[in-house]
Amino acid sequence: MIALTYAPISSLFLSPFVALFLLDNEWTFVNHGAFGAANRLSFETAQKWQRYLTYLPILPTYLRPTSIFSTNRRPTYLSYTYLPIESQPLRYIDRVLLPQMAHVTRLLAQHVGTDACDLGLLPNATSGLNAVFQRIPLTAEDSLFILSLSYGSVKKMAKESCRRTGAEYCEAQITFAHNSSTIDFVALVERELPVNAKVAVFDHVTSNTAIILPIQELTDLCHRRGCLVVVDGAHGLGQFDLNLRSLGADVYISNCHKWFTCPKGIGFVRATAEVQKWLRPVIISHGWGKGFVSEFMWQATSLAQKWKSQTLVPLEMSGLMALIQIPTLDRKLSDIDGNAVQDAMHFRFQIECPVKFIDGQLYVRISSHCYNTRHDYDKLAAAVLCLVKDLKID
Ligand SMILES: Cc1ncc(COP(=O)(O)O)c(C=O)c1O
Repeated sequence: MIALTYAPISSLFLSPFVALFLLDNEWTFVNHGAFGAANRLSFETAQKWQRYLTYLPILPTYLRPTSIFSTNRRPTYLSYTYLPIESQPLRYIDRVLLPQMAHVTRLLAQHVGTDACDLGLLPNATSGLNAVFQRIPLTAEDSLFILSLSYGSVKKMAKESCRRTGAEYCEAQITFAHNSSTIDFVALVERELPVNAKVAVFDHVTSNTAIILPIQELTDLCHRRGCLVVVDGAHGLGQFDLNLRSLGADVYISNCHKWFTCPKGIGFVRATAEVQKWLRPVIISHGWGKGFVSEFMWQATSLAQKWKSQTLVPLEMSGLMALIQIPTLDRKLSDIDGNAVQDAMHFRFQIECPVKFIDGQLYVRISSHCYNTRHDYDKLAAAVLCLVKDLKID
């Protein structure tokens, strides 16, 4: 166990991609799903943007200040040097930042298969989801449909929407057989969707249980039943090739800091023209009343074998994250046991991996990005076996 704790990781075990990230190699980091990990280039670029004005364009002659206005001043308009934002804040915000945000919106829209006019920038997924649930036009005659697997804060937003409007909150319960058996989500929604459902909320990849939902089929089904579809795609961008136009969900929200490996602080909402009639950002600022894009732009800132256990669902239902049951636990467990294992992995083994308590069982939720190698999972496997023994939870 001592060897496991203190052995330095040989560079032979490191992924060739690890140099592209800022991760501390002393740690076994298999928790990309929580907050992502920014790639080095985008992180450094973001830092430059915070401190410097990059690539100030050379102005055409007729826009340059005349010698009367520029006496005693260095003609900065001729240079491409980095300048502190605060050397001329207005020039940065009005002439550089906003055009760049428009440019980024266009690039991102192209990348996710939609039109720039349908894409709003967000500081994170949570702010976009709040905007949706605060504005969604529900009435007391409607129902809001959601799965029990949805993200905790999103369920709270949905409940608050229903409380405010009088709509009925319908949460379909998903239970697990704990034997890696598959779940037919389309059949389940077909059966459970209430006739008066006005909106259905689905995660593209569920957070706690790491299951990819068949969004296309669920969207088609809900649309046939006259129900709007809101997709919480927090784990979507970077994990899938998105074509939001053909996916057809009425609202799709994602963040860029998870699987897309951007620095924290940027996400997006894509909404159809029909939804744009009612969707507004939570925070009112200068873009208010100037259309969807402007309004949002302004507020933007093989373990199972080793453990002789099983996965929560078949691996075909998982993407870059998966849940694997912690082995041989005979006594009644609680989420406190999960926290104890997670903390022990952190403090004793420098392993960052969440432990989830689902339907009475403990699972590790492993994430896999290009900087991970098999060595990370071997180390995790050995640490968990060691902890199970030490903590006497078997
Ligand atoms: C499914 C899901 N939805 C929403 C969020 C919230 O994302 P953010 O922290 O970017 O607002 C998360 C974060 O982990 C998530 O996993």
